[in-house]
Amino acid sequence: MTLRTPLIVGNWKLHHLREQAVQVSRQIAARVQPLLNRCEVGIAPVFTTLSDVEQEIRGQGLHLAAQNLYWQEQGAFTGEVSASFLKDVGCDMAIVGHSERRQLFEESNAMVAKKAHAALQQGLTPIVCVGETLSQREAGDAEKTVLSQLGAVIEKLGPEIAKTVVAYEPVWAIGTGKVATPEDAQEIHEALRAALAKVGSEVAENTRILYGGSVKPDNVTDLMHCQDIDGALVGGASLNVEDFLLIVSRGVEAR
Ligand code: PGA
Repeated sequence: MTLRTPLIVGNWKLHHLREQAVQVSRQIAARVQPLLNRCEVGIAPVFTTLSDVEQEIRGQGLHLAAQNLYWQEQGAFTGEVSASFLKDVGCDMAIVGHSERRQLFEESNAMVAKKAHAALQQGLTPIVCVGETLSQREAGDAEKTVLSQLGAVIEKLGPEIAKTVVAYEPVWAIGTGKVATPEDAQEIHEALRAALAKVGSEVAENTRILYGGSVKPDNVTDLMHCQDIDGALVGGASLNVEDFLLIVSRGVEAR
């Protein structure tokens, strides 16, 4: 039995305009309350709706996460948003290195490490995403890929890695309906935890490693039964309040 508190975060990606974001966050905040003594729950809305969502969920025990950030604090960086601006609107977490950012916006391991560092500097918890593509998995390189992604962040943060959350999201499972088997996911989670153990046994013991990639109400139980899976980063299914709440309640039950 692990002492790590489960964490389930809804990544809304580019969905939910303001009005809907407010409505959805209101319902989640109200209905998730009975579960918050057994798990932590967060939502990651679009930048432009963060402030409205924050007002809606304030004081109700939910985490508010940004989906990305830029590592420079302020200055001539047109179009970017930094950790202090996210802190200013009430975020306490930020997703960094999501595979969509790595693939569509060419974010490198070094950039992701800088983003994680910048988040921590402002007291935001980075959710550091790692994950292999289908071709990397088929080539037998899944573990090597995620370990080098996490390794870049460990190299930059050192023992501060303990203040992050790691999310394993196999790229081939994101938005595809193809979920990793619990065994495959557990294998990678175990390898990630072993990498954290090289920094320190307490770091490995305390750092939460989430699974992400087509998490749904009907597969969350088997995933959360795995020893090294401490929660979920949920995309598509988090857009629907009923599904998201079922994922949280079944996730909690499975621990
Ligand atoms: P999905 O996305 O649940 O829609 O597969 C997960 C994610 O990208 O964080």
